[in-house]
Formats: sequence, C-alpha cells, structure tokens
Amino acid sequence: MTTGDQTAVLAGLGTCLPMEEVDNAALLARLDTSDSWIRERTGIAARRIAGANVSVCDMAHAAGENALKAAGLAEVDAVVVATSTPDRPLPAVGPQVASTLGLGSVPAFDVSAACSGFIYALAVSAGLIATGMAGDVLVVATEKYSDIVDPTDRATAVLFGDGAGAAVLRSGRRDEPGALLAVDWGSDGAGRDLIYVPERHDGYLSMTGKRVYLKAIEHMTSSTLRVLDRCGWATSEVDTFVPHQANKRIIQAVAQQLSLPEDKAVCALERTGNTAAASIPLALAQGQANGTIGAGDRVVLTAFGAGMTWASAGLVWPEITTVESEL
Ligand code: ACO
Repeated sequence: MTTGDQTAVLAGLGTCLPMEEVDNAALLARLDTSDSWIRERTGIAARRIAGANVSVCDMAHAAGENALKAAGLAEVDAVVVATSTPDRPLPAVGPQVASTLGLGSVPAFDVSAACSGFIYALAVSAGLIATGMAGDVLVVATEKYSDIVDPTDRATAVLFGDGAGAAVLRSGRRDEPGALLAVDWGSDGAGRDLIYVPERHDGYLSMTGKRVYLKAIEHMTSSTLRVLDRCGWATSEVDTFVPHQANKRIIQAVAQQLSLPEDKAVCALERTGNTAAASIPLALAQGQANGTIGAGDRVVLTAFGAGMTWASAGLVWPEITTVESEL
C-alpha cells in the first residue's frame, strides 16, 4: 500500500475484552448442545460477553486508548472504526471514540465489513496514509455480537463473543518492519443472505453455517494466495498466519489448502469465540503475548465475513508493544 514514499506502518496494538466469561457448560442450561459438540465442531470453550453496561463504544474506547499508549501517541489524524454491531444504527461509532479519547475534531467514521472489517479498515487507513491525507491513524475493531445473536439459537449462540482490538498506523517507509506491504480485498453481494440481520437490527442474526463454512475456506485461501503474490512471498516463506477466528476447523482447512504447517496458523478462539472484526487484532495480541508472533516474522492476515467480504494483508512483524485491558 504505497504511493510515493509514504507507507502505513504498524506502531502499536491495544485490546479490550469484557470481563464476563461464559464457558460452554454455562450454555447448556438454555441450549440443546454439549461441551464436546462445541469444542469438536468449533474449537471454542468459552467466550466473553459484554453486559448491558458495557457498550461497543466503551470497548472501542478502551482498545483505542491502549493502542495509543502502545504506540506512544496522544494524537492521530483520523479514526477508522470497524464494526458490524454499532450501539446505534446512527451515528457511527468513530466520532464518539475520537471524542471520548480527546482526539479533537479529526475525521472519524465506521467501516462495515463484518469479520473482514479490521483488514478493510487497515486498507482504508493505509490509503489515507499513502495519499498523504493522514500521517497517523487509529484503527479500532469493536463488536458486541451478544446484541444481535439469539441466545436460544444453538447454531449461532455458541459461536460468537464480544471484544475489541485496535492498531495505530503511522507513516513510514516500505522497507521498515511493520510496513503494510500488500492488501487483497473483495466482496460478493450475491451471498448477502448467507449471514444477515433483518431490518436494521430488528431481529437476530441468521447464518447458513455450512455454506458460510465452505465459502470462508475458499475465499480465505484464494485471497491469501493473491496477497502472497503481491508481497512476493512463497507460502513456505510465511512465518505466521493469522486467519479470522471463526472456527478451528476452518483455520485448519485453510492452512491445509495453502500447504502451511498447522503450527504456523494462530488459533486464538478457544476462550474468546468469534469476535467478528475484532478477532484478528485479538489474535495478534494473543500471538504476540505467547510468542507465536515475533519481530521479523513474515505475517499474513486473512478474513472472511458477512457481505460476503474477504480481505488479506502481509507485513513483516515489527518490535511493538500491545496494551491489554478488561472492562
Ligand atoms: N450443538 C449441537 N448440535 C448442533 C449445534 C450445537 N450448538 N449447532 C448445530 N448443531 C447440529 C445441527 O442442527 C445439525 O444437526 P442435523 O444433522 O440433525 O441437522 C448438525 O449439528 C450439523 O450441523 P452443521 O451446520 O452441518 O454443522 P457444521 O459442522 O457445519 O458446524 C458451524 C456448524 C460451526 C456453524 C459451521 O458451519 C461454521 O463454523 N460455519 C462458519 C461460520 C463462519 O465462518 N462465520 C464467519 C463469518 S461470521 C460473520 O461475518 C458475522
């Protein structure tokens, strides 16, 4: 993502998870399911749920504040928020987060691309930086799927969790670690009925799980191959693969299709579930904390979600800090 000399460079990460953890056993009281079904079919053992007093904006604020701390910045030129579960249909989350963080009157807006939202927001922000429209950008992905998932629907209630992750992008050079080297993104609106919420949040999320499962594997694989090509990397040169965290079996299948050893794929969903747009920054934070991702690694991110949307990005992992908190 470069025009001229300016390239977006990752400068810091922040996360925020709601404190309440709901494990599989706790779901059995209201759902006809089992711990073993959920673990075997998805890899999920627990998820965080934001209660009535923790909003999408609250999590975005905390994750954004943490990312700014991690990057050592008090100001940015723009705020881009990825969310598919804004507290209100209008206005966007971005301006509220910019305001509560004391970032002044910077441009602030939302990107709605469901589970691909974080990479979409990275791509948009990298474009702002590459064209000189912004120097530093705060990217926040924040989701509260507990607001839109039917708690009595076993097909979806076991999958999703709430949380937020954020990144600061600064302007830098393409040959620096952290530079966003390439992005691939796309959409297919013909698949809009495979995951949707009817009529402006008036109703619960509906998902045709099996078809989404197959499409996720297909698009995350092909998008990853395109971004690898743009980075000039062979699959064997990837050190760490960070796919959207929807289902452990999807992650394994994509790694297999790419002929990537499974231990190169970060699987961070066991205790957070599918947090949609927030899943990649949360996985990056977890990977960095447990040493799966280290400075100098060639890292590839890929995601797929409602829309349908997909997106991938490649970067060499920089020496950065992650600041994490709970609400
Ligand atoms: N507990 C027990 N049984 C269940 C449960 C449950 N929680 N959920 C479904 N089942 C049953 C089904 O009813 C079905 O029973 P039947 O055979 O008697 O009809 C059986 O299990 C198998 O159902 P499938 O849907 O075929 O199960 P599958 O193996 O596909 O797993 C799942 C379902 C986990 C939803 C999977 O399809 C999946 O992960 N899909 C992709 C989700 C995804 O990637 N989302 C990403 C985007 S999300 C976004 O953008 C917002």
